[in-house]
Amino acid sequence: MAGQGKDVLHVWEKWKEEEHVWPASRIFADYLISHPTSLPNNAKVVEVGAGTGVLSMGIAMGVGGVGSVTATDGSRDALKNLRKNVVQNGLSSKIDVKHLEWRDDLPSWMGGVDVIVGSDVVYGDTTHSTSYFFLSRMVAEVLGRGQGKQEEGMGMSAAKAMFMLQVRGKDYEASSVNKFVEDLERRGLHVEFLEIPEGVDNMQEKM
Ligand SMILES: C[S@@+](CC[C@H](N)C(=O)[O-])C[C@H]1O[C@@H](n2cnc3c(N)ncnc32)[C@H](O)[C@@H]1O
Repeated sequence: MAGQGKDVLHVWEKWKEEEHVWPASRIFADYLISHPTSLPNNAKVVEVGAGTGVLSMGIAMGVGGVGSVTATDGSRDALKNLRKNVVQNGLSSKIDVKHLEWRDDLPSWMGGVDVIVGSDVVYGDTTHSTSYFFLSRMVAEVLGRGQGKQEEGMGMSAAKAMFMLQVRGKDYEASSVNKFVEDLERRGLHVEFLEIPEGVDNMQEKM
C-alpha cells in the first residue's frame, strides 16, 4: 500500500463475494493513506460491508490520528474471516469487528460516528439490487445524527460518508451506483465525486 514501506497485510481470502479482496478496497486504502486529512483527527470510523477488512486494516495501520475503526459486515461468514484477518495482522486492539446488516434498525453503538467508509458495497445484480436503498437509508440516518467534531483551527467538521464504488458495465445512468447516488441526494445529502489522483493505484490494471 502507498507509503507503507515495509508494512504488509496478510489477508485470508476465498473466491467468494464476502471473503474476497475487491480491487476498490486496496485503491481506497491507498487513497486514504496518501490523503490522511480526509479523515478528521480522532474520528470514529465505521466501515460497512468490510468483507476481508483490507480497507479498515489499511486505515488502522496507515492513517495516524484516527480515533477508532470498526469493521462491519452483514454476513456471518465474512465476519469470521474478517476477525481472523484482524488477529493475524496484530490489529485486534485497533479494530473492532461487528455485525451490521443495512436492512436492520441502526444499533446504538453507531451513535457519534464521524465517518462511514465502504468499498465496492453497491453493485448491480438481482441479489443485491435493493441493497443500495437500505445502505443510503442507513447513511442518511447516521449523518443526520452527526454531531460533528471541533477540529483545532478548522471549525466544526461534519460527519461524512466516503465510498469507493466500481460501476460495472458501461451505462452509468442504469447502474446501481447511480441509483445509490440519486437516493442519497433524494434524502437531502450533498454528494461529491473525488478524483483519484495519479500515483494512487489504477483499478483497470488490477482487473
Ligand atoms: C463486493 S463485497 C466488497 C467487500 C469489501 N468491501 C472489499 O471491497 O473487498 C460486498 C460486501 O458487502 C456486504 N454486504 C452486502 N449487502 C449487505 C447488507 N445488506 N448488509 C451488510 N453487508 C452487506 C457483503 O457481505 C460483502 O462483504
